[in-house]
Amino acid sequence: MTGLLLNGVTRDFTEPAARHVLRSIDLTIAKSEFVSLVGPSGAGKTTLLRIIAGLDIAHAGRVTWQGEGRPRLGIVFQEPRLVPWLSILDNLLLVGGSDQAERARALLAEVELAGNEDALPSQLSGGMQRRAALARALLIAPDFLMLDEPLISLDTALAERMRRLLNSYWREHRTTTLLVTHNLAEAAELSTRILILSPDEGRIVADCALPPPAPRLRNDRAVSAVLEDLRRMTHTWPRPDSPETGVPKAHSAA
Ligand SMILES: Nc1ncnc2c1ncn2[C@@H]1O[C@H](COP(=O)(O)OP(=O)(O)O)[C@@H](O)[C@H]1O
Ligand SMILES: [Mg+2]
Repeated sequence: MTGLLLNGVTRDFTEPAARHVLRSIDLTIAKSEFVSLVGPSGAGKTTLLRIIAGLDIAHAGRVTWQGEGRPRLGIVFQEPRLVPWLSILDNLLLVGGSDQAERARALLAEVELAGNEDALPSQLSGGMQRRAALARALLIAPDFLMLDEPLISLDTALAERMRRLLNSYWREHRTTTLLVTHNLAEAAELSTRILILSPDEGRIVADCALPPPAPRLRNDRAVSAVLEDLRRMTHTWPRPDSPETGVPKAHSAA
């Protein structure tokens, strides 16, 4: 467990205007790969994750899981989707079960949310809510982890610490992972493979293998060479969202 096979996955939207988003995507993700899917806003990254997760079934083509049975999917969506009337801890226990409190608290500490267990989601910043969603996804010990821009609104130092956490989680568990990101450097730091989704063609236009990410230096030479090429392909893309600056209502730090 758990690999994934996509055959000819195609998705068109007709409303508000006809738009071909994904064009005949063929892709295999093997067990234990850490794959980053990189593309600018509107390229169809979230649409592809939703199709893989079974949340969008209005597509052509096939999604097949390899392994026994359906995998346990851990998903962190762009918007954190916490239950608004449950505390952060109870949001985790809702998926993990009430006997998981100790592990849930430990995971909340790992994503630097210790002390926020009893807060309601609305009392936390967007970045904190997304980290809670990450802790929730890890709590179920997923077979396949999907992360949709999980670090986007975090300040630089915190994003760096969260990348280290994702890297050490992957090295420990080798969970098959699909990370959506705008950020090539982030993709290079974490991944065994980078896919580039072209916004114009709705296709994967580059598929680059990288050496497995040990704690990886950004100036690793093999990685730099791949990055150089990919940067040339993507230099016209809009810049990613800027870090969140708002201070949350009841708590500090984004
Ligand atoms: N439910 C929908 N109805 C119509 N258009 C959609 C819908 N979902 C996404 N789109 C369009 O599909 C394109 C890709 O969206 P999305 O997958 O969210 O891109 P990304 O995650 O790469 O930013 C965008 O142009 C978006 O407006
Ligand atoms: Mg998206």
